[in-house]
Amino acid sequence: MRVIAVANQKGGVGKTASVLNLGAALAEVGESVLLVDADPQANLTTIAGVEEVELSTHDLLLSPDIQLRDLMLMTRWDNLAVVPSESALAAAEVELSSAHARQQRLAQKLQGLAKRTVVLIDTPPSLGFLTINALTAADEVLIPVQTSYLAMQGLRQLLRTVERVQDRSNQKLRVLGLLLTMYDARTRHAQEVKQRLSDHFGDLVFDAVIPRTVAFDYATVAAEPLIHLRPHSPAAQAYRELAKEVLKRA
Ligand SMILES: Nc1ncnc2c1ncn2[C@@H]1O[C@H](COP(=O)(O)OP(=O)(O)O)[C@@H](O)[C@H]1O
Ligand SMILES: [Mg+2]
Repeated sequence: MRVIAVANQKGGVGKTASVLNLGAALAEVGESVLLVDADPQANLTTIAGVEEVELSTHDLLLSPDIQLRDLMLMTRWDNLAVVPSESALAAAEVELSSAHARQQRLAQKLQGLAKRTVVLIDTPPSLGFLTINALTAADEVLIPVQTSYLAMQGLRQLLRTVERVQDRSNQKLRVLGLLLTMYDARTRHAQEVKQRLSDHFGDLVFDAVIPRTVAFDYATVAAEPLIHLRPHSPAAQAYRELAKEVLKRA
């Protein structure tokens, strides 16, 4: 089993789009993929096509009796399952405030999954309780970075949080890579950001770069991964390239 948290405390950088499309790209080449929605906004749940949620990650974190298999839903696509979220998840931190080892809840629930599963966890735009749970459960963290100068500024804080989790609750956690998203090759600004990121993080930056395209909006409306809605688009190809790199870095 390989658990990858997709995290960045900045909103709108492509975390959810990356979880869905990387997941779909891995599933397409035969990996058994489980997407876990750990964001109360439940965007992943919606765009993965889940219409009704009976049990969610909220129940998973709160109830000792509820196991992952109780809430796993198959999607319309082969090899791609999803664990849905709902807005109630936002209260989990308060509800668990006096609970023991509450930051390890998700990690505990992921134990016992089939060996060859790749788990991708979508996280909310904060470095709070839910993201810490995801990082504690993960072997690796993939960091989407929107290609803009300001988007790079939060990275230091995110990497400090990763270190803190390594120290306190999850020694095995490592940074899988940084993924440039919403890249507009026509602008010099985007090229500069890419260069700076490479200068600073070297090989940690994935070669695959996700271009900015309005097609993601159509994919959202269609509740379908872009790689299925527009399989030949450059962005779909980029997520397939990313999947190859992710498999290579295992
Ligand atoms: N490469 C991209 N180009 C254009 N729009 C994108 C791209 N990736 C994601 N989006 C869109 O931008 C918005 C934010 O992306 P999302 O994945 O939800 O970010 P996050 O999960 O980090 O908040 C969504 O409307 C999504 O469809
Ligand atoms: Mg999101």
